[in-house]
Amino acid sequence: MASYVPAVLIALLMFSHATDAMASMASEDLAFFYFVLLWPAGICKQTQGLKCCKPLTGEPAEEDFYLKGLYPSDISGNYITGCNDCSFNNNEISGLEEDLQKYASNITCPSTNSTDSWKTLWETYGVCSGLGQHYYFKKSLELLKQIDMLSILSKHDITPTTDHGHDYTVAEISEAIKTETTYTASIKCSSNDYADYELLEIHLCFDKDATTIIECPVLPTFTCPDYVEFATYSFKDTAFKAANPIRMSVPE
Ligand SMILES: *[C@@H]1O[C@H](CO)[C@@H](O)[C@H](O)[C@H]1NC(C)=O
Ligand SMILES: *[C@@H]1O[C@H](CO)[C@@H](O)[C@H](O)[C@H]1NC(C)=O
Repeated sequence: MASYVPAVLIALLMFSHATDAMASMASEDLAFFYFVLLWPAGICKQTQGLKCCKPLTGEPAEEDFYLKGLYPSDISGNYITGCNDCSFNNNEISGLEEDLQKYASNITCPSTNSTDSWKTLWETYGVCSGLGQHYYFKKSLELLKQIDMLSILSKHDITPTTDHGHDYTVAEISEAIKTETTYTASIKCSSNDYADYELLEIHLCFDKDATTIIECPVLPTFTCPDYVEFATYSFKDTAFKAANPIRMSVPE
């Protein structure tokens, strides 16, 4: 009789568990997520000397890690991108704008209002996550808070420094994360023309529901020197906001 189950009932069975969390179809290849945290000072050094621009709207966090992205990956560690054309909808981030502006701002010059980078993140990667747009961003922000990387590092006396000569070893940063989370992170650095290396990104992994931290099935490898800077940064407000992008300074 199984073949006689009415289509309506099948539809009900299939979708009765559908929630906001499952609003889009996950790629069949989805195996886990890379969760990437960004140290903003690393951007300033990498992209344009010591300059970063404050976005046109919102107040970015002055001293914390930012969300770079929650990236769906296949089992071989390849990002899964461009699954469908479920375009970015501004209404879907309602209630999250303040936190996104704080922790997921685009601080590359010239200043933007950051909406473009959220759109890119969603339309390139988010659409392949199997998560609805609102949930995708909400969950990403939650993971960032749960991890609380600044606290993890400070427990091991690794704190942002203004002292240019004070570098940390990549090994001690990795070790701190391993000790506090029990998982292995991958560290990416940025460099400038003077071969100063700055902490740029920390990569961790989550299961395919984006809820449980896991050991990365494929740990990305980046080339960092033994020592890196983990520098403080601050926005310098000026009276020429409109004409002149605000500079974010990193001690030299
Ligand atoms: C940000 O910029 C985009 C396109 O440039 C625009 O559509 C959007 O309304 C702006 N958002 C805010 C909050 O200003
Ligand atoms: C961030 O802003 C820069 C400079 O305005 C722009 O070139 C870049 O495309 C933006 N990033 C994203 C992901 O939109």
